[in-house]
Amino acid sequence: MQTANRRIEVLEGDITKLAVDAIVNAANNSLLGGGGVDGAIHRAAGPELLAECRNLGGCATGAAKATRGYRLPAPWVIHTVGPVWTGGARGEPVLLASCYRECLLLARELGLRRIAFPAISCGVYGYPLELASNIAVRELLAHFAGETTLEQVNLVAFSPEVAQAYRRALVETADQSAG
Ligand code: APR
Repeated sequence: MQTANRRIEVLEGDITKLAVDAIVNAANNSLLGGGGVDGAIHRAAGPELLAECRNLGGCATGAAKATRGYRLPAPWVIHTVGPVWTGGARGEPVLLASCYRECLLLARELGLRRIAFPAISCGVYGYPLELASNIAVRELLAHFAGETTLEQVNLVAFSPEVAQAYRRALVETADQSAG
């Protein structure tokens, strides 16, 4: 049985290039596309993705919805909407944790084995990277502590500083669990 930490791998690069079972999209509530990773995913997936998203009726912050991946190497996209950072006193941590948890549960429902997350809310939505990476790692470890079809989760960093934040969060969590 792989330790949970070894089932979490930090990758640097463009999430739209990954041939995993699903890539997670940091979307907005309309699910009708945008900039950042949302824009990159829609560009790479092609117009059929937007056509399917139009029928989903949007997505609440902290929730997750799946679509096909179309022209992406990943057959599925799991769309989630992170909180906009406004200082941390308006439920942002709970909502960001919910994004990770709901995406993982949806991946398990779909019977997926490998999924990849971008740094949800850490771009346009302004979530502090250190706080967000701690939440991401905590939720992944909690998921791996239970039954799941997932064998590996990639935390995809679009810059070295994001990769460093993820790696720090993994080391600090491992130290804590080592007691
Ligand atoms: N691959 C991986 N990560 C990426 C990519 C990519 N191709 N492009 C951007 N990122 C990274 C950003 O560098 C950032 O670390 O994804 C992280 C999330 O940033 P955003 O895409 O800005 O997402 P977010 O902060 O959640 O804001 C969501 O932005 O694009 C709009 O429609 C979207 O309104 C929504 C808002």
